[in-house]
Amino acid sequence: MAVELAHQACIHPDCASTYEAGEVLSRCPRCGSLLDVRYDWDRAQVPARLRDLGRFDVPAGGLGRVSGVWRFGALLPFAPTEAQVTIGEGHTQLRPCPKVAEYTGIDPTNLSLQYEGLNPSGSFKDNGMAAAFTHARLVGAKKAGCASTGNTSASMAAFASASGLLKPVVFVGSGKIAYGKLSQALEFGARTLQVAGDFDDAMARIQEVCRERGVYLMNSLNPFRLEGQKTIMYRVLEGLDWEVPDWIVVPGGNLGNSSAFGKAFLELKDLGLIDRLPRLAVINAAGAPTLANLVNREGLRWNEGRVDMDKVAAYYRGLDERGEKAHTLASAIEINRPVNLTKCLRALAGLNGVVRTVPDQEILDAKAQVGTEGFGCEPASAASVAGLRALVAEGVVDRSARVVCVLTGHPLKDPHATVGYHGYDAGQLAEAYGGYGVTRAAYRNAPVPVDNDLGAILKALDDA
Ligand code: F0G
Repeated sequence: MAVELAHQACIHPDCASTYEAGEVLSRCPRCGSLLDVRYDWDRAQVPARLRDLGRFDVPAGGLGRVSGVWRFGALLPFAPTEAQVTIGEGHTQLRPCPKVAEYTGIDPTNLSLQYEGLNPSGSFKDNGMAAAFTHARLVGAKKAGCASTGNTSASMAAFASASGLLKPVVFVGSGKIAYGKLSQALEFGARTLQVAGDFDDAMARIQEVCRERGVYLMNSLNPFRLEGQKTIMYRVLEGLDWEVPDWIVVPGGNLGNSSAFGKAFLELKDLGLIDRLPRLAVINAAGAPTLANLVNREGLRWNEGRVDMDKVAAYYRGLDERGEKAHTLASAIEINRPVNLTKCLRALAGLNGVVRTVPDQEILDAKAQVGTEGFGCEPASAASVAGLRALVAEGVVDRSARVVCVLTGHPLKDPHATVGYHGYDAGQLAEAYGGYGVTRAAYRNAPVPVDNDLGAILKALDDA
């Protein structure tokens, strides 16, 4: 059975404890470090060539046919086919986007956007939930819990109600999540607690509740969730006809995606399925800059797994002393204590990565540019495009580089942000968003009020 091929391992080299795949853990019980899912690759049936990956060759009726995660099951072999949970996730697109390329300064044919908003619940989280729910089913869990800035909760609630496997409980920061996402958790029937505080507070509380009540944690601390998110990169490679791009650019919040992407590429390299690695750029919102500050100012590094956690603790103490909270319109990444920090540092080390921050003004302008391609994203996702633009201007990313930016969530997750950007006049914009440093809408496309009168309508059209 596939589950025998997998185990869990502490990522700290001085501990390196291992645990069975069937244990429910979110950190190493011995040392508190993060855990990886690892595989006995010699016994796994991994195709010899990359282009044989991901074929729809699961037996008739098998879930591989409907899941963009499980069709890559050979690279996350922890569950037998019959245990795999899916809601039809991972049918996403890699789109060449010449207009956004021009905006960022990349050669027009060299930028593609990986549109994860096409997942059933509208964000990349569904990739991870397919894997986490599968593990939860294998271990017989009854209740699922998460803290969320909105998308994790939407995805978890969708999987819980569609599969009927677990009862969902969601913790969100009070007033901190976009309505599109809150509406999903409510509509899909999750017990939703609005914790008086922000995401970082809710994340701390949900871990306590999971321990107290035996609730299965669905946040990306759960190493099985990140296994599902590796498949985003397999689909990127597939979209590039199995050629490795030069750069992957991704927004950073709780740092699950960046961690999963790093693991995906490093495993492919170890397996001999790719011969080079892309570089990784992780983009924080300027109002939630923990990773950028720790890496760029404090010099924090992976250091072969011996991360200077005293430095991290001192940084968090400083935040507390100054009463500093994350504050960004990109609410999905309004996070100051990213739980996957150490795994992200590993990905940065392995993929020669960089970290940058982008202000909300640039995030919203970049989002409007993504919209010009006829699809879109929510604010946090556009941090990747804004970040790429900054990296090209700095000369870190070459104009001729082949780049993929990951669009993590659907534009309808947060229509307030979009309609505000396009609809507000300068005064309204300053009032609503001034506190986030957003003072102009460079790519504004305001709705035009017009009388219910043909003459007036024709005049308004001619004026355009
Ligand atoms: N983009 C979107 C749309 C997100 O929802 C998130 C995270 C991120 C980017 C950041 O990804 O955490 O892997 O670095 N949202 C989480 C949530 C925290 O609760 O929905 P990350």
